Parts: sequence; C-alpha cells; structure tokens
Amino acid sequence: MQFKFAILAAFVSAAVATTCQLQNLGALTVVAASQSGGQTRWDRFTVDSGAVHKGDIGWFVNNQPNGNEIFTAETFGRRTDLFIFRLSSTHNEIGVSGTGAGSRLLESPSGNSIGIFKVDCGTCFPSPMGNDLAADNCKFELTDGLNDLNQCVVFSSDAVVELQPCNDSNPAQNLAIFSVAL
Ligand SMILES: *[C@@H]1O[C@H](CO)[C@@H](O)[C@H](O)[C@H]1NC(C)=O
Repeated sequence: MQFKFAILAAFVSAAVATTCQLQNLGALTVVAASQSGGQTRWDRFTVDSGAVHKGDIGWFVNNQPNGNEIFTAETFGRRTDLFIFRLSSTHNEIGVSGTGAGSRLLESPSGNSIGIFKVDCGTCFPSPMGNDLAADNCKFELTDGLNDLNQCVVFSSDAVVELQPCNDSNPAQNLAIFSVAL
C-alpha cells in the first residue's frame, strides 16, 4: 500500500513539472493564459510611458503570435530546465530589475542581471509547426542559476511583466508558450 502511494506521488509530481525543449523553437512568444482568451503576450515597450520604461517587457494584447516582439530561449549552463530569453530583434537578453516581488523584466543590452528562469510546464507539444501552441500550464520561476528564488512571472494589470511570490493557484501565473513562424 505504501509502495503504491509512492508511485502515485512520483507520477503526479512528474505530471505538473515537465521541462519543454524551448531552445528548439526558432522563436516563441509567452502568453498570459488567463487574459483576453490567451491573446495577452510579452512585448517590448519602445517609449517611456508613466510607470513603464523604454525597454521594459510588458503584456500587450495581440492575437497573432508574431504580432509583438518575439523571443528565443537558450538553456543555461548545464541545466536543461533553466532558460534565459533573448529578444529576436536585438538579440539582447531579458534581464530582471531585481530578485524580489515587484521586480520587472526588461531588455538588458549590457547583459547585466540576466533573468534565469526555471520553466515547468504541464504539457509540451512536440514539433509545433508555425504559430502553434508549444507548451501550456507553464510556470516561470526566477533562479540564481542554482536555487529557485520563489518569485514567478505574473500577469499584472499595470502592463509590465513582473515577479510575484510563486503561487500555483494564481491563474495570472499560468503561462503558455507559442512557437512563432519565421
Ligand atoms: C494564491 O492565489 C490565489 C488565487 O489568486 C489567492 O486566492 C491566494 O490568496 C494566493 N495565495 C497567496 C499566499 O498569496
């Protein structure tokens, strides 16, 4: 009985934390699954506007996966479950303004404070063709390259892509990844 329970527990935890091979996507876009029918995705702000600064990564509604800025992913170090992201247009990395709650994602031309994220997904869709769903039920958790920092990427209504303490029951932290036709 105890043995069966252990197998079930292992199965369940494997099911909620799959590493998708994001590095194999030619380009991708990251979508807030809970917003606007899944059409709210990462973009880069090109002008300063109120609390938003030029270069900040923001949430922007666009029903086309390639309608906003698009990104690429690379694995970090020898870990296959950690990723850094780059803007396809400039090849600059996505950085983080800090490691605490309320820190935001931004373009990092200097390569300082690169965001290293552990990306766990519920489902990976192998070999997406064109503008297709590549992964869903994903959680992006900031790490220092070694340890999880318990800060997750969240959709927030003030438009900037922010970090907040990880919370699996918060739909605003439920992200999807689309491949982008180049
Ligand atoms: C986690 O998210 C849920 C749903 O938004 C919320 O009700 C709950 O208070 C959050 N938990 C914490 C610890 O913030």
